[in-house]
Amino acid sequence: MGILNRKNPTTTDAWSALLSHAEKLKQQRIEGLFRQDSSRFDQFSVQLDDLLFDFSRNLADQETMQLLKQLAEEVGLADAMEKMFAGKPINETEGRPVLHMALRSANREKFKVDGKPVGQYVQAVLDQMREFTDALLKGEKAGFNGQVIKHVVNIGIGGSDLGPRMVTEALKPYHSDVQVHFVSNVDGSHLTSVLKGLKPENTLFIVASKTFTTDETMTNAKAARSWYLESGNESDIQLHFAAVTSNTEAAKSFGIREESIFEFWDWVGGRFSLWSAIGLPICCAIGFNNFQKLLSGAHEADNHFESANFEENIPVIMALLSIWNINFMGATSEAVIPYYQNLRLLPSYLQQAVMESNGKSVDRDGQPLDYQTSPVIWGAAGTDGQHAFFQQLHQGTAIVPCDFISAVNPHHSLEKNHHKLLANFLAQPQALMVGKTEDAVKTELASKGLNQDSINKLAPFKRFEGNRPSNLFLFKKITPHALGKLIAFYEHKIFVQGILWNIFSFDQWGVELGKGLATEMYQSLTGSGGEPTPEIAKLLEVIKDFKDG
Ligand code: F6P
Repeated sequence: MGILNRKNPTTTDAWSALLSHAEKLKQQRIEGLFRQDSSRFDQFSVQLDDLLFDFSRNLADQETMQLLKQLAEEVGLADAMEKMFAGKPINETEGRPVLHMALRSANREKFKVDGKPVGQYVQAVLDQMREFTDALLKGEKAGFNGQVIKHVVNIGIGGSDLGPRMVTEALKPYHSDVQVHFVSNVDGSHLTSVLKGLKPENTLFIVASKTFTTDETMTNAKAARSWYLESGNESDIQLHFAAVTSNTEAAKSFGIREESIFEFWDWVGGRFSLWSAIGLPICCAIGFNNFQKLLSGAHEADNHFESANFEENIPVIMALLSIWNINFMGATSEAVIPYYQNLRLLPSYLQQAVMESNGKSVDRDGQPLDYQTSPVIWGAAGTDGQHAFFQQLHQGTAIVPCDFISAVNPHHSLEKNHHKLLANFLAQPQALMVGKTEDAVKTELASKGLNQDSINKLAPFKRFEGNRPSNLFLFKKITPHALGKLIAFYEHKIFVQGILWNIFSFDQWGVELGKGLATEMYQSLTGSGGEPTPEIAKLLEVIKDFKDG
């Protein structure tokens, strides 16, 4: 027996009941559910301070919610939550606890690993981050020739890039004068294009890697060091390089001094690490106080998740409805559409958070699953997405549940723009739900004076099935605190879904095979490897042929 329960969700009473319930609901329409229950908005929304979460536009009724809650109970969700918060090693395949909540808690003493509180370590690194960013933002950090550091380049990939990059972009209105850049891709054009506008004397690199072995990051870090050494001296390197890692020895071997190494721990998963020292570039962009507000927003979400009844628990509801749409209504992907330009990187961030966590096909006993787990996550900022992929959302064959996210108060003074943005934010979920019948299309075309033949020909193309589910997240304003809350809700949604699907959400073995093969291919490409397989040998021949010079 492992730490987490092993319960195949499809063997529960709730799952069987949900299957037949789904057949009944497929005969219904979401607007019909609104008509049947005048209190539907109140019943199917939760307001938590500055956030409204409206889940009323799902093809789900009170019975659905009741059965989903029963499913959560039958698989032991409450017990799993308790184990996670108690620091039990629920990441069983790696033998680690999952405690990113400790990084943002106002009550850190309660978090323990192997019986030992982690609060003091967390606080020490936060103090180190505050000292570093305060000095940087006051212009007290100078490069090798005394020039004030003005640019920070974060070199990292995956969780060491997507989270800090997304948050930094989302909180643009809070930016300081220090400019923060991100380099992730091993494609040399990424580093080259970032370095193009920079000068080594006022640039500081943060090498961000939990393991400090990730090939892309180490390759870029070495290239950045060479670029620096074209102008600066080895002896001044500590002025220009800092590291964020749980492998401090490797960072020291790279040449980074101990005082410039910001530690985090193996109980912080890479894709859940933006709250740790991995958030250093965020601090450089928005200042430490704002970073703390981000943490406090996430902490509030943790408290809500830990204490609210499942019926009012935002991440639990997000997870349960997602399971409803995926496992009972046949959805295979979910779109995330922020009506807030600065949040446009949220879909990419969530791609890693969700798909690296729950893209699994064996259960906690290693047995193959016969039900779907992680959806494909995709999306883009509204209204841009409307002019790209919304055709498919409205009239495509696949049903894609959507999360629409926006805020009432903008950070700019273009009121008309903002009203239009909000109008679109309201219109799209409504259009997805209501659709347009062929009769309505015909009446409209007749009123425009088209003849009957043209009306009959055009009508099928202009009708909208509707009945497509979505959730709305409406904030007062996208502040650091509000953003922290939103991200933490998505994190807990991922956890709840992993528990219900009986999988391990906190490992990522699926990325290893390709990594290993890439090392072999590198050796083949550079002539230092063994005999390549015939199909690779063919490609290597073409590469040799195509090579310039
Ligand atoms: O993509 C695999 C992965 O291990 C992610 O889980 C992680 O966020 C990323 O690589 C980067 O890892 P590291 O921070 O160790 O460089």
